[in-house]
Amino acid sequence: MSVFRDAIDTFLSPIKDLLDDDAITEIMINGKDEIFVERKGLVYKTGNAFSSEEALIAAMRSIAQSVGRTIDEENPRLDARLPDGSRIHVVLPPMAKNGTTVAIRKFSKEDLTLTDLINFGSLSKVGARFLDICVHLGKNIVVSGGTGSGKTTMLNVLGSRIPDTQRLIIIEDAAELQVASEHVVNFETRKPDPNAGISEVTIRDLVISAMRLRPDRIIVGEVRGPEALDLIQVMNTGHDGSMGTVHANNPVDACTRLETLCLMGDTKIPPDAVRKMVASAMQIIVQCSRYHDGGRRTSHISEILGVDKNGNYICKDIFRWVQTGRDPETGKYIGEMVPCNYVPSFFHDIIVNKLPFPKNQFLAPEWYRKILSGQGGIKDAA
Ligand SMILES: Nc1ncnc2c1ncn2[C@@H]1O[C@H](COP(=O)(O)OP(=O)(O)OP(=O)(O)O)[C@@H](O)[C@H]1O
Ligand SMILES: [Mg+2]
Repeated sequence: MSVFRDAIDTFLSPIKDLLDDDAITEIMINGKDEIFVERKGLVYKTGNAFSSEEALIAAMRSIAQSVGRTIDEENPRLDARLPDGSRIHVVLPPMAKNGTTVAIRKFSKEDLTLTDLINFGSLSKVGARFLDICVHLGKNIVVSGGTGSGKTTMLNVLGSRIPDTQRLIIIEDAAELQVASEHVVNFETRKPDPNAGISEVTIRDLVISAMRLRPDRIIVGEVRGPEALDLIQVMNTGHDGSMGTVHANNPVDACTRLETLCLMGDTKIPPDAVRKMVASAMQIIVQCSRYHDGGRRTSHISEILGVDKNGNYICKDIFRWVQTGRDPETGKYIGEMVPCNYVPSFFHDIIVNKLPFPKNQFLAPEWYRKILSGQGGIKDAA
């Protein structure tokens, strides 16, 4: 930590105030004197600047060094996790046309909970209780969303609701998740370094190992390659309650994306069969969205019910966040998470397990029912 601290004190002094400010969640550097930050979901330009492009490159070199990595002409990109848990990505010129380009996703010091997400307005109380029940019942959950929409945060929150009696294996490219549960095993992939004779260890490799390590549930931090097929198989072979995140803009896209990723590998399984596997593995999709007002909200909680006879995914929304207005002063969206008048197929599990979630919680309010039937005048923002 001290080499990193030294690097901050000496080389990163131009942005030290930004690093120290807990209200800033992301720092974006586009060349020596264009530095932006994100606060409460909105991006602002700062007056901070490095004295020269060389000083900025030197800062990035020393950061890379402090975590045992190199950034230079031969390795012009760096993707690393800093000792304080923050994530950094750097691209050097000439690839980066604006000058050295950096994004630092600061590590959130507090572990968020479902209650925090309710307080942020990202979830309704009822929606949060429903998600809690899905985790409790061991539903397979995929958290979907765009870049920076809050997927990892949501996965962390949901993972922390897994009962302590279950053994949980977490697999990530860069260890980010901090699931607060009693029996957790964390795995991180390794990048190859042919010069040092270090071979690559991929998410796929680690999923295979995880399967042999008696998991109750497996969490794959971010599914972005052929490991999708392994996760789907894990979900389809009795490891109920497994979870992962995927980059997609809505719940159906999340399924399509997973299907495409499954087919990226050298699988001999025909595409139709892969689609059916994806559809039967997925049970709940939690869609995270970053809205233009800076808010990060859960835009959908949906159930996947299989594929119809035309080969389309059958997806039913259980809850959605619906915009009903906009605060003229702050510009913030006004809205709420509402039930969509759909009772999930596993409602029977809720009853037999005596979980406190009455059926009427799925009933849409009158005003939203009108929208659902096409008579409403309020626009759905999600
Ligand atoms: N519901 C929320 N309300 C407010 N801020 C949030 C919420 N969820 C996440 N954040 C903040 O948004 C930032 C991005 O969150 P997170 O890392 O979870 O996103 P992500 O979708 O996993 O991003 P990436 O695509 O880069 O992996 C973090 O600073 C996090 O603290
Ligand atoms: Mg993430």
